[in-house]
Amino acid sequence: MDALESLAAEHRLIRRTVDAFEQYVGYVEARVPTERAELRKFMSFFEDFVALHHHDTEETLLFPALDAAGVDWNGEPLARLRREHDQEHYLMRSLANAAQQLEEWSEPERLHFLSIAKTFVAFQRSHMRFESAEVYTLAEKVLSELARARLAKDAERYDDAARGKNTRLTEIADALIRRFLLNECSPCEGTDRVSRNAAGPR
Ligand SMILES: [Fe+2]
Ligand SMILES: [Fe+2]
Repeated sequence: MDALESLAAEHRLIRRTVDAFEQYVGYVEARVPTERAELRKFMSFFEDFVALHHHDTEETLLFPALDAAGVDWNGEPLARLRREHDQEHYLMRSLANAAQQLEEWSEPERLHFLSIAKTFVAFQRSHMRFESAEVYTLAEKVLSELARARLAKDAERYDDAARGKNTRLTEIADALIRRFLLNECSPCEGTDRVSRNAAGPR
């Protein structure tokens, strides 16, 4: 598959998982009982698929290809993207720390989680919107046919090496989307149902 199409497909999966995560955050905000294990599943997808696989493909294959095609490595948009990836990793680390805590969160810890989680959701959406609209489009314009074929080959090699792991992470994301976005299995079973609007982040 063409590398840009493959990255765009990954953005679609990430976007849906972020939507599901927003729903999970809404439950935490509405004090609907939720499993900490579910948060750990979200973080496993965000850290291992988004930060490790997706960002790695962008940073080690796409950005150097753009650099080689004449896009300034230290100018916009590449410098901005590298800064944003760093910022995103920081937010993920904070969320992962909250996920690893086994005991009940204190009220300040719950509020801190909500603040970081909402920042992460907004940040992730804006980052992917920028990449899709500005950077992937720029790549389509500036990369030669040969550069694009080379990029596709390198990306395929990356995908092949991570196939088993990514299949498992995609299954985790699909299950989270079904559970939190499509509401196939409510986390509030046994308690009063909370409407999507009431449970959504405010
Ligand atoms: Fe990115
Ligand atoms: Fe991306």
